[in-house]
Amino acid sequence: MAENATLTIGNTSYDLQVIKGTTGPDVIDVRKLYDESGVFTFDPGFTSTASCESKITYIDGDAGVLLHRGYPIEQLAYNSSFLEVCYLLLNGELPTAAEFADFDKTITYHTMLHAQFDRFFSGFRSDAHPMAIMTGAVGALSAFYHDSINVDDPEQRKISAHRLIAKMPTIAARAYKYSVGQPFVTPRNDLSYAENFLRMAFSVPAEDWRPNPVLTRAMDRIFILHADHEQNASTSTVRLAGSSGANPFACIAAGIACLWGPSHGGANEEALMMLREIGTVDRIPEYVQGVKDRKYRLMGFGHRVYKNYDPRAKVMQETCHEVLKEVGDPDDPLLKVAMELEKIALNDEYFVERKLYPNVDFYSGITLKAMGFPTTMFTALFALARTVGWISQWKEMFEDPRRKIGRPRQLYNGPLQRDYVAIDKRG
Ligand code: CMC
Repeated sequence: MAENATLTIGNTSYDLQVIKGTTGPDVIDVRKLYDESGVFTFDPGFTSTASCESKITYIDGDAGVLLHRGYPIEQLAYNSSFLEVCYLLLNGELPTAAEFADFDKTITYHTMLHAQFDRFFSGFRSDAHPMAIMTGAVGALSAFYHDSINVDDPEQRKISAHRLIAKMPTIAARAYKYSVGQPFVTPRNDLSYAENFLRMAFSVPAEDWRPNPVLTRAMDRIFILHADHEQNASTSTVRLAGSSGANPFACIAAGIACLWGPSHGGANEEALMMLREIGTVDRIPEYVQGVKDRKYRLMGFGHRVYKNYDPRAKVMQETCHEVLKEVGDPDDPLLKVAMELEKIALNDEYFVERKLYPNVDFYSGITLKAMGFPTTMFTALFALARTVGWISQWKEMFEDPRRKIGRPRQLYNGPLQRDYVAIDKRG
């Protein structure tokens, strides 16, 4: 049953339709507002604005719920695999065994990069941040795969989605190998997605590499936990870039650039640096005081949407313990600082009042460090995993016949029209 909202400006009232989704807050449809009333709505940061319709991911931030195509993230993290989650996000349903075998094969057989592509990496300085390399390299894919950049062709959209999911681990591993001066490792088709990535990142020609099932599972789970997260900044960037008809590789490169920021994907790197800076448990109170004095933020805490415990953070915390038990030091001082900081923050009035809970980045940094990744790779791994979310959202946008170029409006506060003054007449 459609409801209406009424907006009154001066003596005129406007009826605005209220639209209901399957769950979550209703939205007020303001699409015709400007035509009818001549006013815009004002919402910097999109705190109250739905930018699109989507069937992919649902978050209830107050309840700490995250669903992909209706399935809770915890169930997917514990029972599924990253590639199965990729299929789910892209296609809307979990695959049958035959569909999965086909998808697995397609992704596996697209993992190699064009041989000329490797020259891109050597163009970077050896101390380049892997995210700088990822942004450039992923954008460059569009120069190599001309046969899948016609965005109006559903088959080409599908192929480019598969290529991106498949090639991202190869690019991320090369970005890492390049930064440590080790030779690139060619993907192997007999390994799983996570295993293949770990081998490309950590094996060296001088010795045999054997998969560690605990680390493989942890990597796969980290990928699942980062696969999609609704209309966050980088996903919205991908949609906005895609709305102009830009090719998918360019759009994903735009998403990577946005993800790099410390308020978004860069937070896992920053969270680990913060734990290092705190160093020991006895220094926590002083650090927390600095947060309250607004000298800095507690990295890995807080979220625009979650005003309850981030459900991904719970799984991440468990994975972190499993990894540390396997390869790390369970007495790692950073872990001790992390656990104590979490305890203090969860009980401190300042954080409770503002509903600041640990987010997924709080524990992912410690886990990735124990697995052998340098901090500079953390965000690159996030980008690798989030690629499926970005491309699924991008694909969904193209499947919507009402797609329009994204073009926000503004509240102009600059000077009124004035006449140009020649330089010698300016005083
Ligand atoms: N540490 C201390 N205070 C904080 C923090 C924090 N991490 N986050 C928010 N606050 C305070 C903020 O100062 C404000 O207080 P007051 O009302 O007194 O002015 C209040 O909480 C609301 O903050 P906000 O900036 O309006 O909240 P937001 O929804 O715009 O920000 C956020 C969300 C993620 C940018 C922010 O919480 C933050 O900067 N967190 C640290 C960075 C981080 O961990 N980012 C990863 C997010 S999860 C992964 C991802 O999706 O990329």
